[in-house]
Amino acid sequence: MAYRIPFNRPCLTGNEQAYMLEAVARGHLSGDGEFTRRCCALLQRKLGAPGVLLTTSCTHALEMSALLLNIVPGDEVILPSFTFVSTVNAFVLRGARPVFADIRRDTLNLDETGLARLVTPRTRAIVPVHYAGIGCEMDAILELAAAHGIPVVEDNAHGLFGTYRGRQLGTLGQLGTQSFHETKNVTCGEGGALVINDPALVERAEILREKGTNRSRFFRGQVDKYTWVDIGSSYLPSDLLAAFLHAQLESYDSILEQRRRVWERYRVMLEPLAERHGIVLPVVPAHCEQTYHMFYILLPSLESRQALIAHLKTLGILAVFHYLPLHLSDMGRTYGGRPGDCPVTEEISDRLLRLPFYNDLSEQEQREVVDTVSEFFESRG
Ligand SMILES: Cc1ncc(COP(=O)(O)O)c(C=O)c1O
Repeated sequence: MAYRIPFNRPCLTGNEQAYMLEAVARGHLSGDGEFTRRCCALLQRKLGAPGVLLTTSCTHALEMSALLLNIVPGDEVILPSFTFVSTVNAFVLRGARPVFADIRRDTLNLDETGLARLVTPRTRAIVPVHYAGIGCEMDAILELAAAHGIPVVEDNAHGLFGTYRGRQLGTLGQLGTQSFHETKNVTCGEGGALVINDPALVERAEILREKGTNRSRFFRGQVDKYTWVDIGSSYLPSDLLAAFLHAQLESYDSILEQRRRVWERYRVMLEPLAERHGIVLPVVPAHCEQTYHMFYILLPSLESRQALIAHLKTLGILAVFHYLPLHLSDMGRTYGGRPGDCPVTEEISDRLLRLPFYNDLSEQEQREVVDTVSEFFESRG
């Protein structure tokens, strides 16, 4: 079904097609060509990280993280139940047992105050997710992780160039993972990046990404032939995608400004409704610079959330919910997940609604969305 106001619309910034044609003209269509190099250089410079590798997705950057940390069967990995399935699958694929943490009521991020009691001698990683591009309480998380010698992998799918106390999200743990999926602020359709903050992991990351070979060293002239040196897979995106991505990365400031405007307009338009109808708006702590990745609202109940989605749909407006608590999914239950384990996650997951959000969403379209939400509540008295 085509929606008058879709949930997401990929937005071009101008140079995508020209750069893709240039990639074709350069005759290097596979991974690690000129545009991959440019993207990595830009990301590395802006993030100030020792290593950045483009990957085929954030999912694959997470899988590389699990490989780099040598996760083996029986290891435990702590992560929020309120996240996308890739956060957990990457580690479960290596045989890890997920340990699900609840989230904070304000930012919907991993609740750092409940972390200590989840740590056991088998904990091998903590994976905070910077939900909606708003930083988790990283000081407390990093302190606890350091006290126990546990690596931290930041799932930063939503938070490229967001900051926590002035520091770039994705650069605070040993590893950070980015997404360039169509729904993200900066996109190439499908894509991602692994941010490597521990210099000791950079060389092995290159090898894992190149099918377990030292091909990258060979191309730098550091070895005279390349060969199989480790396990690995193929996590390189084509340089055609990197060309598209480079155009988007170069235009990041204007993308952010457009999204900031859309986010602020929603906030201003929805504030009076929130007070009247018990809707909760996003909370952004003063020490976090957010990425304006999404605008969500919390409805009073599951029933009102579902009814509002249906009402918006009848008027051609697509609003969506996510995430279903992972600990209560079919897979989560096989790891012992039970109702009541993560009470805030369970409640928020029922009440959260994401409104249409894309760079060029117009003020008129936003007015329509907000008027429809308003009518919905007025009609219910
Ligand atoms: C928190 C989180 N992590 C990981 C991913 C996976 O990203 P990708 O589609 O690039 O694999 C997503 C996708 O939406 C996500 O929301």
